[in-house]
Amino acid sequence: MIRHESGRGGMVDTRDLKSLAGNRCASSSLAVRTRNSRVLRDSYGRQVTYVRVSVTDRCDLRCVYCMKERMVFLPKKDLLTFEELERLCSLFVEMGVRKLRMTGGEPLVRRGVMDFLRRLSVHKGVELVMTTNGTRLAEYAEGLRACGVERINVSLDSLDEAMYRQVTRGGDMGRVLAGMEKAAGLGIKIKVNVVALRGVNEHALMDMVYWCAERGYDMTMIEVMPMGEMPMCREQQFVSLQGVQAQMAREFEMEVAAKQGCSSGPARRYFVPSLGIHVGFITPLSAHFCEGCNRVRLTCVGQLYTCLGHEGSCDMRALLRSGADDGVVRDALRRALWSKPQGHDFASFMNVRSGAVSRHMSVTGG
Ligand code: 5AD
Ligand code: SF4
Repeated sequence: MIRHESGRGGMVDTRDLKSLAGNRCASSSLAVRTRNSRVLRDSYGRQVTYVRVSVTDRCDLRCVYCMKERMVFLPKKDLLTFEELERLCSLFVEMGVRKLRMTGGEPLVRRGVMDFLRRLSVHKGVELVMTTNGTRLAEYAEGLRACGVERINVSLDSLDEAMYRQVTRGGDMGRVLAGMEKAAGLGIKIKVNVVALRGVNEHALMDMVYWCAERGYDMTMIEVMPMGEMPMCREQQFVSLQGVQAQMAREFEMEVAAKQGCSSGPARRYFVPSLGIHVGFITPLSAHFCEGCNRVRLTCVGQLYTCLGHEGSCDMRALLRSGADDGVVRDALRRALWSKPQGHDFASFMNVRSGAVSRHMSVTGG
């Protein structure tokens, strides 16, 4: 029997929660107890400790799997203000969230983001991390370090300059590499995010693993996900990571990373002793990853999504702007979390142009 600690010090049996989820009986005392718990827990027994916060949908790149060439961005007035973002983040922390990841779009393109991070850094015991495309890293690395950011994910899909420019529709790889070096030099631990793309980098992934190992960067390979409407079918971009994973398992000793399961979320992570780095695989299509999911996403306009692959969300902006007090906001967060779906259904959207969900990753936050 798997047991999870409930927010009030009691124990809740996962199996009870699963059966409750199938039969969401409002009068059940267990359901009520869990819904009212001080921590954020869903109806499948997963505690949410990790929130990804998209601070902007804007980006200075236009990666082919993420954005259309001509993107229409959201009106700035629709974005949550930094005050609103801070309020929500503080409530999350109060309710047991231990990791806040700033994403976008590109978080470093929003003016004032460093002041916002500085204010968040007062929360002790909370890990503040960021996913960035690295184009402004050289400029901001020191500031990030000063805010207590110790780890960042940098998106880099190719080590070939021309290919990088093509994938990002105009990006300058040299700037990104310089930014990474600067950050690493300041002691910021770097993880490189690589989206595996058919006909683009599928045969260069092992070279990227070696390149990362030489620099002490961890690496995560990601299968392309059907997010947002695109001019082509996702199948044209998709390449399964099962092959690379099998190849790595043949060539290297791979230790399942200590922080696996709920704490590591959906990635399968391994430590490769001979390379001295961690390598992760996010394979939502070829292998489901939902059962250990410990995260939710807050979009830059204040929609709270409890699953990357579902449309269901909670409009936190409307609530905040209606003058709701903290108790009401806390309650809304609890209720939203309680209805976190069990998992996504990306597979059925791969052969169509529309996404599994209509929003782009840049709005949701990757
Ligand atoms: N599928 C998979 N990964 C994506 N990212 C952005 N859009 C997609 C998509 N459709 C990645 C970015 C970044 C991370 C946050 O998400 O490359 O590394
Ligand atoms: Fe920008 Fe990241 Fe999307 Fe590329 S993947 S366009 S860097 S938000």
